[in-house]
Amino acid sequence: CPFYSVFYEGRCFTGKCLEVYGDCDNFQDRGFMNRVNSIRVESGAWICYDHPDFRGQQYILERGEYPEFQRWNAHNDHMGSCRTIRMHGERYRIELFEGTNFSGQCVEFCDDCPFLQGRCFTSNCISSIRVYGDGAWVLYEEPNYRGRMYIVERGNYCNFSEWHAQNPNIQSIRRVVNYF
Ligand SMILES: *[C@@H]1O[C@H](CO)[C@@H](O)[C@H](O)[C@H]1NC(C)=O
Ligand SMILES: *[C@@H]1O[C@H](CO)[C@@H](O)[C@H](O)[C@H]1NC(C)=O
Repeated sequence: CPFYSVFYEGRCFTGKCLEVYGDCDNFQDRGFMNRVNSIRVESGAWICYDHPDFRGQQYILERGEYPEFQRWNAHNDHMGSCRTIRMHGERYRIELFEGTNFSGQCVEFCDDCPFLQGRCFTSNCISSIRVYGDGAWVLYEEPNYRGRMYIVERGNYCNFSEWHAQNPNIQSIRRVVNYF
């Protein structure tokens, strides 16, 4: 089964649980509270949202165990929907632009970068993005893969609202690699 996760209401894989095999737009419709305190991702890579219908704060989850919500960088246990990340292969390439509509300074990456501004960008603003190749990337508002996160998959994102952000602050990026 390429996509399989189990969500638990309690910490450390206790309490009521919900098995998910693909996109789920509303946990409550499946008889599950919109509260999740631990998760086992058996296969696939996932984006979870703190609201139903793939809205709100995004959390990226890869294969592995998450015994409490801090492990997916959340500040609370609200979770309302999830979808799978389509992975195509192992070639990763992304172009980050300082300006909207693919303008201004542009830097290409094929690998993780824990601090963009230390490497090449002078401002914290990444305002448009092109994702090439096969793999998905996670964008973080803070250095070292911390803070609010956003997922981008193959395609063009002409401004920050296209990755559902409220501002263009991005300071680190990493590839989604653990999805088998
Ligand atoms: C970006 O491109 C779109 C579509 O071509 C255009 O409507 C928009 O005004 C442009 N935005 C900026 C800031 O140049
Ligand atoms: C982002 O681009 C979309 C599509 O071109 C446009 O509708 C939207 O107003 C833009 N948002 C911002 C914040 O520039």
